[in-house]
Amino acid sequence: MTALPEIVRGPLQHSILRRAAQKGLIDIQVHDIRDYATDKHRQIDDYPYGGGAGMVLKPEPIFACIEALQQQAAEAGQAIDDVIFLTPDGEVLHQKLANELSLKKHLVLLAGHYKGVDQRVRDALVTREISIGDYVLSGGELPALVLVDAVARLLPGVLGDATSALSDSFQDDLLDAPVYTRPAAFRGAGVPDVLRSGDHRRIAAWREEQRLAKTRERRPDLLDDH
Ligand code: ADE
Repeated sequence: MTALPEIVRGPLQHSILRRAAQKGLIDIQVHDIRDYATDKHRQIDDYPYGGGAGMVLKPEPIFACIEALQQQAAEAGQAIDDVIFLTPDGEVLHQKLANELSLKKHLVLLAGHYKGVDQRVRDALVTREISIGDYVLSGGELPALVLVDAVARLLPGVLGDATSALSDSFQDDLLDAPVYTRPAAFRGAGVPDVLRSGDHRRIAAWREEQRLAKTRERRPDLLDDH
């Protein structure tokens, strides 16, 4: 659900998300909040009570939109698992949360804009609030896409190689090892011999070492959990 549907449509039409939709592994619908505005100007935002900068998304169109989605789901014999509001004051997105959400069937994502959304929407409709990091963006559309991508790529069959999502950085709290492709020599820089050795045991051991070393150097905080 967004006031800026064009921002979210584009990225869904390319690469992995597009192929996942074509294969029927995900089904993403973009809902324009303005379509649910009831007044004659189709107004979706208004000035904040008490004053202050920025406009606030009005409750009526958002309630109407979510209620329409709940009804559609009910008619299809489904239920909405979570209504997620993207907001910088939400729980920070991390891989475990993406994993957890990938097990849900039906998620509704609400992208806020302007100064925010009327608190009554958050109190009555939103079941989960998620931030994509400690920085402020101008709206929840890009965060919603980040969440969709992080979750969709975990669904079985979405990535070509069934194991590749599991070997990602963060999936086991370690960063990824360096990767190389042809040519073997490029502008004076080569490829580690072990990767060209054909010895899969040594390659696996080298990768593990590299992952540990990189994690120790860049993200020692990740190792604290081990
Ligand atoms: N909306 C604006 N900034 C955001 C962020 N960092 N995460 C989620 N939603 C946002």
